Amino acid sequence: MFRSGIEDRGPGMLDAGAHDLSVLDLLVSAVLLLDEQGTIVHANAAAEDIFGLSRRHLLGLDACNLFEEAEDLRQSLREALDEAFAHKTLPLQLARPGGGEPLDLSAAVVVQHGQPWPVLLELRETHYRTRIERAEERLEHADANRELLRNLAHEVKNPLGGLRGAAQLLQAELGDPRLTEYTQVIIAEADRLHALVDRLLAPHRTPRRLGPVNIHEVCERVAALVMAECGAGLKLIRDYDISAPELTADREQLIQALLNVVRNAAQALAERRRQGQAEITLRTRVARQVTLARQRHPLILVLQVIDNGPGIPEAIRERVFLPLVSGRDGGTGLGLSVVQTIVQQHGGEIDVESRPGCTEFRLMLPLTSPA
Ligand SMILES: Nc1ncnc2c1ncn2[C@@H]1O[C@H](COP(=O)(O)OP(=O)(O)OP(=O)(O)O)[C@@H](O)[C@H]1O
Ligand SMILES: [Mg+2]
Repeated sequence: MFRSGIEDRGPGMLDAGAHDLSVLDLLVSAVLLLDEQGTIVHANAAAEDIFGLSRRHLLGLDACNLFEEAEDLRQSLREALDEAFAHKTLPLQLARPGGGEPLDLSAAVVVQHGQPWPVLLELRETHYRTRIERAEERLEHADANRELLRNLAHEVKNPLGGLRGAAQLLQAELGDPRLTEYTQVIIAEADRLHALVDRLLAPHRTPRRLGPVNIHEVCERVAALVMAECGAGLKLIRDYDISAPELTADREQLIQALLNVVRNAAQALAERRRQGQAEITLRTRVARQVTLARQRHPLILVLQVIDNGPGIPEAIRERVFLPLVSGRDGGTGLGLSVVQTIVQQHGGEIDVESRPGCTEFRLMLPLTSPA
């Protein structure tokens, strides 16, 4: 049996002073420390997130009661106490509040020698990568894309210039006006391709003009523009934290970024607007101690754009931030890649969660210089 220093103090009474467990809050996986009865004696910040309960509420609960079908977990905890293994992983399911599909988790039961908590339970979402993993991947993609675009633009523009020049010369030589129709098609298409390449490169080229920016002024500008474009049947809900401090940012670029996101939402809501049931929420919040683009920030601004439209088509959900990915007739698929570039140039991150009936884009921007 394990020595247990928590028995005398009762459940949920781990002496925090004796053990500095704050380091567990830096982990992206949820961690629960359990006593011999399987009662939670400590929960880290990621555990609070995953269960939607504060630490105070988690302490003292029977860990097995948090999951659906927890018999395997109960059995594993018994085996852990008998030292049948050092660690073991098993699948678990977490019921979501308000119904819906349960969340699939991978749980590691780890035996703890010489600690007042005999078992550590580590939980990770099976299918969903963490925000940090997704952000890392996007940052790498963005770097690779930028390189690819630069090279491609160079390779495309040179021959395009030759093509256009040759078509112009040919046009001057042709006497028959019916034939110049063809050369005009060549010239017009060459110009279209040239303009597309320029638009692909534009967000990487524009220098930033930084200054103090009130995010709510940005929101209001975008709201006015989108309501003027497609306000009929659309309800815009403002949920602002007016105490949010000013950002140091390029105001025009932020307007452009937010406009692209809100315009997408309004476009996706076309059907709902006709029914008079379209809603877009603009929400601002401040969050503390968040890692963005590999830097930890004491304070960040979170700007959420939430719509009740059909959701991002499944086939492109993982790729929406890549250039030229579009699920819309007539869309060029550049809007979100521009947003991502602008947000990343401001040291921030963008993320999205989407399902039918609810799409949420989250723009996260540093409010203070990195600690
Ligand atoms: N709020 C949303 N709801 C549903 N689908 C969305 C939403 N936002 C984006 N999308 C999907 O993501 C795709 C990519 O968006 P993006 O803004 O990058 O390009 P686009 O809107 O197609 O073209 P562009 O913005 O260049 O005119 C859209 O075509 C649409 O299918
Ligand atoms: Mg768009």
